Amino acid sequence: MACCHYYEFSAAGEQVFAVDVSAIKFGPGALCEAGADAAELGLKRVALFTDRNVARLEHMATLLAALREAKVDTAIYDEVRVEPTDKSFQAAAEFARSGDFDGFISLGGGSVIDTCKAANLYSTYPAEFLGYVNAPIGDGRPVPGVLKPHIACPTTCGTGSECTGIAVFDFLDRKVKTGIASRALRPTRAIIDPTCSYTLPAAVVAASGFDVLSHALESYTAVPFSRRPRPQSPALRPMSQGANPYSDIGCEKAMQLSGRYLVRATWDASDREARDNMMFAATLAGIAFGNSGVHVPHGMSYSVAGLVRDYRPEGYPADRPICPHGISVIVNAPAAFNYTSSACPDRHLRGAELLGADTGDITSADAGAALALHITRLMQATSMPNGITGVGYGPDDIPDLVEGALAQQRLLNQSPRDITRDALTGIYRDALNYW
Ligand SMILES: [Fe+2]
Repeated sequence: MACCHYYEFSAAGEQVFAVDVSAIKFGPGALCEAGADAAELGLKRVALFTDRNVARLEHMATLLAALREAKVDTAIYDEVRVEPTDKSFQAAAEFARSGDFDGFISLGGGSVIDTCKAANLYSTYPAEFLGYVNAPIGDGRPVPGVLKPHIACPTTCGTGSECTGIAVFDFLDRKVKTGIASRALRPTRAIIDPTCSYTLPAAVVAASGFDVLSHALESYTAVPFSRRPRPQSPALRPMSQGANPYSDIGCEKAMQLSGRYLVRATWDASDREARDNMMFAATLAGIAFGNSGVHVPHGMSYSVAGLVRDYRPEGYPADRPICPHGISVIVNAPAAFNYTSSACPDRHLRGAELLGADTGDITSADAGAALALHITRLMQATSMPNGITGVGYGPDDIPDLVEGALAQQRLLNQSPRDITRDALTGIYRDALNYW
C-alpha cells in the first residue's frame, strides 16, 4: 500500500494511539429499540432533545412509543436551534437543570446531538459558559468527570456527532464558530436508523454527505499521530490524535462509500441502498475523525458559516441566513486539499481513487489537483454552491474569513502542511469559485 510509511516512530515521538467509541447500534428499525436501550442503562426519566422540524416527523413518534413501552418517563425539549449558538446551548442547559433527569436522548442532526451534549455537561457540572469552551476563545478547562448517559439518534447522514466528543456552536459576540471538545462528551450509545434519512430533502443529503466525505479525507490526510511528542502521561494524550491505523480503516471505507453513493443518495430518496450506505459512511467517518481529528477545510468552515450574510439554501429553515455545516466545509475543500497535498501526496491520491477518480496516470505532483477536480465534479453533480462566492462571499471578505479561521488552531494544527495567515489567504482566494 502506498501509505505504509506514513507512521514512522522516533525516540521522543508518540507510539501509542487510543480508540474511543460510543456503543453503536445500526440498521433499519434500530430506533424501535431505543426504549430497551434506555432501560438497560437504568434510565427512568430522560430529557429528549430535538428540533421543531424533527419533532413533527414519524421518527419522533417511533422513539416516543419505544420509550413509553419501556416505561421511561420523557420530557421533550424541541427548541434546539439548527446551527446552535452559545445562547441556545445555555437555554438547553437550563432545561436540563430544571428536570431532575437521570439521562439524555437526542433525536436529530448534529445541531441537536451537540446541544444535548452541552446540556448534559452544563447541567451535570455547572460552570461559567466559556470555562469548557476550546481555547483561545474559551478557557479549555477539562470536564471534571463522567456525564449522565446520553443516547444519540442521528436523523441525517452527516455529522457523525453521535460518535464524537465535540459540540460546535456559533459564538455570537465574536461571530465565529467554536466548540467544546472532551472525551466525556461522547454519547454513551448511538442508535443509527437509516430509515430516518429516507425523508430528507436532496439538499440536506448532499450537504451532510459532503461533511462525511470531508471528515474521512481530512482524518486520512491529518498529520500522523506518531509525529506528536510522546505525552508525559496517558491522560494528556489528545482526543484528536492525528491520523492513525484505526481511523484509516474507517476513512478508507467511508470515502469509498461516499464516492459510490453520494450522488445517488442525493437525488433519489427511494434509493435505500444509497441512503443506507451514506448513513453507514457517516458513522464510520464519525468514529474515525472522533479519534484522529479534522483539519483545514473544517478550520476554514467556521468563519464561512459564522459570517454568513444572506445565504438561504433550499431544504433549511428560511427564517434567517444560514450556511449549513457541510456546505461551509466543502466550499473550501478542493482548494484546501490542493494546498495540503504536497505534504503527503500519496494519501491525497489514494483519497481521490477511493472517491472514484481515475488516477492511473496521475503523478504525486498532480495529486492535489486531481483530488480537487474530483471533489469539484461531485459538487457540480449535486448542485452544491460554486465555492465561497456561491454562498455570498467576495475577495473583500477574505481578511475577515482568514481571521476567523486563525482562531481554529486546534484544527489547523492537524494539517499535514503548515498553515500560516498567507497560506489561508491563498486558499480562500483559490476557493472563491471552481467552475
Ligand atoms: Fe463536520
